[in-house]
Amino acid sequence: MVRITSYSAGQTESFGEQLATLLKAGSIVAFEGELTAGKTTMIRGICRGLQVRQPVQSPTFTLVNEYQGRLPVYHLDCYRERRKQEWLALGIEDYLYGEGITLIEWADAIRDLLPQSSIRVIMNHLMVEENCREIYFQAIPNIEVQIRQAIRTGLTDEHSRD
Ligand SMILES: Nc1ncnc2c1ncn2[C@@H]1O[C@H](COP(=O)(O)OP(=O)(O)OP(=O)(O)O)[C@@H](O)[C@H]1O
Ligand SMILES: [Mg+2]
Repeated sequence: MVRITSYSAGQTESFGEQLATLLKAGSIVAFEGELTAGKTTMIRGICRGLQVRQPVQSPTFTLVNEYQGRLPVYHLDCYRERRKQEWLALGIEDYLYGEGITLIEWADAIRDLLPQSSIRVIMNHLMVEENCREIYFQAIPNIEVQIRQAIRTGLTDEHSRD
């Protein structure tokens, strides 16, 4: 598990941009965490890192947004549709095992459908300060090492607080 604290929306976006350097065709990032924790904000940063030019918004009603960056990007949101059967009927496996990168908000609903290789991101408000967020990254061990390195680069680049 990699734990970081974000002190602003901009910093969360930067963490996303750094994470994007690790993503390849077939990568899956599964986000969990309460309302306004910053899931879409980090996804915006990931998309910036992937050279997506379209606006990035939670597909709360449409369930899936597709963007084109250096790879196709599938942005899914399970907030309104938590039934696994419905996601299977929608063809979620084509996204998960396709040629693009899949980014999923409220992914706890479909956790059983996700492969072991998925990167799990858990985001929550930290009550100490309005703009503070606690972010955990969980992945297979060698990917966690890469995440730690990528995020550290982000910190030294512009957001180091020490
Ligand atoms: N450190 C921070 N990281 C991310 N967002 C922050 C931070 N501090 C403040 N914010 C603000 O919190 C809000 C996060 O909204 P965002 O849509 O990214 O959350 P979300 O987790 O996707 O919410 P939802 O569950 O509704 O989809 C934004 O208004 C953002 O500006
Ligand atoms: Mg959102």
